[in-house]
Amino acid sequence: MFNACIIGTGSALPEKALLNSEIGEFVDTSDEWIVRRTGIKERRISLKEGEGTADLAALASQKAMEMADVSPEELDLIVVGTVTADRLVPSAGCMVQQILGAQNAAAFDISAGCSGFLYALTTVKNATCSGACKTALAIGVDRISTILNWKDRGTCILLGDGAGAVVVKASEKETGILSSHLKSDGRLWELLYSKEGNSYVPECLEGLKPKSSYLVMDGNRLFKKAVNSLTDIANQALKQNNLSGEDISILVPHQANMRIIQATAQSLDIPFEKFYINVDRYGNTSSASIPLALDEANRKGLIKKGDYVMLITFGAGLTWGSTVLRWCF
Ligand code: COA
Repeated sequence: MFNACIIGTGSALPEKALLNSEIGEFVDTSDEWIVRRTGIKERRISLKEGEGTADLAALASQKAMEMADVSPEELDLIVVGTVTADRLVPSAGCMVQQILGAQNAAAFDISAGCSGFLYALTTVKNATCSGACKTALAIGVDRISTILNWKDRGTCILLGDGAGAVVVKASEKETGILSSHLKSDGRLWELLYSKEGNSYVPECLEGLKPKSSYLVMDGNRLFKKAVNSLTDIANQALKQNNLSGEDISILVPHQANMRIIQATAQSLDIPFEKFYINVDRYGNTSSASIPLALDEANRKGLIKKGDYVMLITFGAGLTWGSTVLRWCF
């Protein structure tokens, strides 16, 4: 058995920053309302050619591989958490593989809403620990703007586009990913779902009926469920690793919105100062939110070798999860 160590992080964002005031031009909202209820000031939206889901994911991956000093040929696995692959077929993973030139890898996608990255990381960890692969990419990417209803002020203010990636390597050292807890509850799928889209409506039978694959959300119920689930899964991880909140050096939560993060911090025995937050600048970037924040924190020098790092996530499905790691480099 090997341990799975993160040895490089990377992220990529579209150039276009969409301000709250700009959203106020097409729905009835205001910068003041959005900041007070969510903490979000702006988010990135991919509008340009060359800023597709696979392009952003590949850019984030290249940065992580550069940090890890890993060549494309060394990769034997690429797992992408996303709900907005550029195409229904093939997977974003295979398109990333092609852009990177990682011809020795197996590549595929995982759909777990905003929890996509932790599901991808856990899959990579299990493959690495079992010896099935040596060097892998776990990616979280979404261009969630492509499935937003820009007339629904309850959802379109919350989300943004982005990508994050980590390189994971098999190691015999004691550090690395210590635990992964993943959960889902399909009974609650209707709290956050895409309206129609993909193959639910048999379009060949429905003729020219236009697609409406935008997101539909019950914000109030999601809020409570998110806080409870994140708290439970974080406590479970602390218990399994025999750690207290004091032992955690940095906690990177899914950047759903500031009030969810604050409420989770309050119900956990972990000081709010240890939470890394960038939701004000990027909104909720779905699967990308944790690897994007992790990369920022890492590049700012906020994570040191030997630190205990906790990642907690929550998303459509419903899905949620946690990962605890001992930083390797
Ligand atoms: N601008 C202005 N007013 C808005 C608005 C907006 N963008 N969105 C909703 N409102 C209005 C509502 O219409 C409602 O008006 P009413 O009282 O006249 O009916 C009022 O604000 C309160 O709406 P409510 O939904 O109760 O607000 P809230 O405090 O619950 O905040 C969310 C809404 C979406 C910010 C909040 O529920 C939330 O953060 N939920 C979690 C969502 C999330 O993170 N999902 C992803 C999980 S991965």
